Amino acid sequence: MGLTLHRDKVRMLSAPPGKKIVLHVGCGSPRPEHLHPSFRGSEWHEVRLDINPRVRPDIVASIVDLAPVPSDSVDAVWSSHNLEHVAAHEVPLVLSAFLRVLRPGGEALITLPDLQEAARLIAAGKLEDTAYMSPAGPIAPLDIVYGHRNSVARGNEFMGHRTGFTAKTLKQKLLDAGFVNVRIARPGEFAIWATARKPAG
Ligand SMILES: C[S@@+](CC[C@H](N)C(=O)[O-])C[C@H]1O[C@@H](n2cnc3c(N)ncnc32)[C@H](O)[C@@H]1O
Repeated sequence: MGLTLHRDKVRMLSAPPGKKIVLHVGCGSPRPEHLHPSFRGSEWHEVRLDINPRVRPDIVASIVDLAPVPSDSVDAVWSSHNLEHVAAHEVPLVLSAFLRVLRPGGEALITLPDLQEAARLIAAGKLEDTAYMSPAGPIAPLDIVYGHRNSVARGNEFMGHRTGFTAKTLKQKLLDAGFVNVRIARPGEFAIWATARKPAG
């Protein structure tokens, strides 16, 4: 797929005066609740990026290289249930791209499926039992590991999962990529959360 950065969207990477840019990667369909609450204040300017043009992102691109996004251009990267959609060998490329586009001192906020939690249910024989309800409907461990079955069945190839993480592996990959102040949380709800900062300079 060709990468597209519409000319009028280039301007979106220049925040209005006094605003900070949050690059919302793998943003999915345009819904206010998709933006993490910490980026909903008036000081933030959201730029939505996704590989799927059907979700009408500001930038159509892959997180594997974020090619259209200039280096040191955004204050934060927000990635929700997105990193598991690339192949395992591409994860270091994605994290390098996050690091590249962040301004020095900028922060990435990442959440993704907790495979340890899914594995607990799978080991208990609950592969297709509902683990939790999402806006897209019930989610079973099978969806957590392989991607949302209904979306994939509807032909959305971008919704399949190609890799997975535990808290330990995500932390190590962020450190290996060069992030600092890496903090990991497992608050439940089958998700791992991470914050990680680009070195200040
Ligand atoms: C499970 S949805 C998450 C949507 C939203 N962030 C949320 O948390 O509800 C995964 C999103 O990642 C996008 N995606 C998959 N592979 C991608 C890639 N290589 N680069 C950018 N986006 C990708 C999909 O098109 C989809 O919109």
